Amino acid sequence: MQIQPGDVIGSYQIYSEIGRGGRTVVYQVSQRTTGRWVALKVLRKQDPRALEEFRREAEFTANLGHGSVRQVYDAGQTPDGYPFLAMQFVDTSLRQLLRARQEQGRTFSQQEVARTLGPVADVLDHVHGMGIVHLDIKPENIFIFRDGQVVLGDFGSARQIGGATHEGTPRYLSPEQAAGDRLVSAQSDVYSLAVVAYEMLTGQLPFGGELDIVLVRQHLEATPRPLRQANPHLPRELEKVIGNALSKDPRQRPASARAFVERVRTARSRAVSGRRKGLGRGLLIPAIVVPLVLFLGIALIALPILKTTPTPTNTPTATSLPTSTTRPTLTPSPAPTQTLAPTATPRPTSTPKPPPPTQPPTSASSARGRYAAIEHPATATLHRFTSAFPANETAPRSPAQGDTYVQ
Ligand SMILES: Nc1ncnc2c1ncn2[C@@H]1O[C@H](COP(=O)(O)OP(=O)(O)OP(=O)(O)O)[C@@H](O)[C@H]1O
Ligand SMILES: [Mg+2]
Repeated sequence: MQIQPGDVIGSYQIYSEIGRGGRTVVYQVSQRTTGRWVALKVLRKQDPRALEEFRREAEFTANLGHGSVRQVYDAGQTPDGYPFLAMQFVDTSLRQLLRARQEQGRTFSQQEVARTLGPVADVLDHVHGMGIVHLDIKPENIFIFRDGQVVLGDFGSARQIGGATHEGTPRYLSPEQAAGDRLVSAQSDVYSLAVVAYEMLTGQLPFGGELDIVLVRQHLEATPRPLRQANPHLPRELEKVIGNALSKDPRQRPASARAFVERVRTARSRAVSGRRKGLGRGLLIPAIVVPLVLFLGIALIALPILKTTPTPTNTPTATSLPTSTTRPTLTPSPAPTQTLAPTATPRPTSTPKPPPPTQPPTSASSARGRYAAIEHPATATLHRFTSAFPANETAPRSPAQGDTYVQ
């Protein structure tokens, strides 16, 4: 396959090469009929079956009806028989942003992770609600427009929930995919999303090793490196959240992708309020004990004096002492209420997701409601799409070319 800048394939004119996947080359092209930029993913093999897969992927994606999905316009083949997929061109991918951060020696903040992965989680919850699992969540398939809008791409590995497959990318593979004979579910995508979050937060992957076979084994058997070993500045609670989403047992992972991202977003504040709560309790005991001891001490001193001078003029002095000692006892009492309040009151109100500026117009929940009533065309497409893939047919793919990750 020889494709050069300036070449014309159908209505697309090649401008430059963007990148390469395991089986593909992606080009930035201009669509001559509209003048818009398009990304053309061309398979490096003349494979009529792959053309059929691309067609199904195009049909499926076009019918997904979610604003945070990278659009697919068309599928076809070059004059010499190489299948291609024409897609919405997106300025950059999360992989490129990760590389840039790494060059600067920086990682992503918790809030940046939540903002970036929030729309991805929305798409995942949307497709999971349709009974579909993506199975190839990784930075190369998460795209970011210049204005910050995030879209998820590549449904080429998608399957129906409940099947079994080896398909996926070794670095981000859930244990179910690594095993190949276990059922995949929404939690398989949650696992891969957690690997991406780990990488954004630390600049490293939860498992070392470069060889696919080693990575696959580790996802299957090894304990991931604790998050704070890779970045000690992160809150302890976040380490728990990520560790939990990386559980080998899918039932231990968060119930949904959105729930996972929400936990990532709020982990730090919970940790802070937890400390405050502890501090409040810690202060409560001295607040009661210290005035009590003071009161007893003063009473012990005052008692003999009162006994020796039984004149009524001294009585107010004696009575005023307990009053002054009781004041400290009373003063701290509102303190625990104040310190506990932030944990109890604002937490639930602040937790619900603020709609990111990039929020798509279609909400997952309303869409899911529709699917409950009538079968969405995308579901029908996927039924055909997935039935073409027998379970366990594919060995894990090698990492994409040009995807060398420096740990
Ligand atoms: N629509 C697009 N706009 C801009 N860049 C894209 C687009 N689609 C793909 N790319 C980039 O092109 C490169 C190759 O993508 P491709 O999907 O072919 O492979 P991959 O996702 O890296 O790996 P795999 O072979 O596992 O699918 C990636 O770096 C990807 O981020
Ligand atoms: Mg891809």
